[in-house]
Amino acid sequence: MSHRPAIPDSTQVFKADLFAGKVLFCTGGRSGICYKITETMMRHGVKATIIGRDAKGLSESAEQLEKATGSQCLAAPADVRDPAALKKAVEDTLAKFGRIDFVICGAAGNFLAPISGLSERAFKTVIDIDLLGTYNTLKATLPAIRESKGSYLHISANLHTRGTPYQAHVSAAKAGVDALSAVIAVEEGPRGVRSNVIGPGPIAGTVGMDKLAPKGFKPETQIPLTRMGDGADIANAAMFLFSPSASWITGTVFPVDGGELHMRSMVLPYPQSLIDPESVKHMIKPKL
Ligand code: COA
Repeated sequence: MSHRPAIPDSTQVFKADLFAGKVLFCTGGRSGICYKITETMMRHGVKATIIGRDAKGLSESAEQLEKATGSQCLAAPADVRDPAALKKAVEDTLAKFGRIDFVICGAAGNFLAPISGLSERAFKTVIDIDLLGTYNTLKATLPAIRESKGSYLHISANLHTRGTPYQAHVSAAKAGVDALSAVIAVEEGPRGVRSNVIGPGPIAGTVGMDKLAPKGFKPETQIPLTRMGDGADIANAAMFLFSPSASWITGTVFPVDGGELHMRSMVLPYPQSLIDPESVKHMIKPKL
């Protein structure tokens, strides 16, 4: 069973000039989910800076984004593990665009390894990129975000709410990211600053999915809405969270995952046990 309504183009839902005059600072914006969010917001008038380690790839992405959207994009090469490089990226953004309204903390690293196969350095590398990188980004951008009464969005995950094997490093890092977002929401709320988290489910065509998806992954048996996510699903959620419609929403963790988070409760084959209860009757112990 599968139902796949088309994902609406953002312009069918949001005003074309929703983010006119606003500026986005996005770590991890060279590719994947963060590229898609940046592209979507640029279609709605935002000017953007994308931050990443690969200077050449970053320039190519910035050029593509400008061509596709007609808005402006600055490529600011920086490793989120390097606070001085991030500070420079913020200075370059302010010099070019004059302000920062929205920050996406999206830079992340991942690979599959059980704790028994994870060196101390391997664990620390992911903590450094995902968690310290988020902290460094918050520190570098906070003065500008206070000035604009802006908003943070963290691209986290949902796997750390359960004991996901082979993901100790990422689980620990993303739990920390969720916590940082909640703290900054409380600390900076009185100054008009908001901070929220999106926990993406499996998104087709991303580096993360290429690295993590087991061979033969069948979305229809593991995701209630029966399909893999698309970058546009995350971008549409981000559009809402940055929009004035979300002006009373802060400190939240928003799973965008087709309902996958809730699948841990399933003990019988999914979805057969719901569609055709007869077919699984032999698996249920009779009442004594
Ligand atoms: N299994 C176990 N350990 C691994 C590993 C794997 N698959 N991949 C890397 N490591 C270890 C390395 O062996 C090294 O530890 P060691 O010195 O004790 O051997 C440590 O992690 C650091 O590796 P290194 O390659 O030097 O780090 P890096 O900073 O160049 O790269 C990564 C960071 C490892 C996270 C890399 O995968 C990356 O750059 N990812 C970015 C893109 C990405 O993952 N996106 C998906 C987001 S969901």
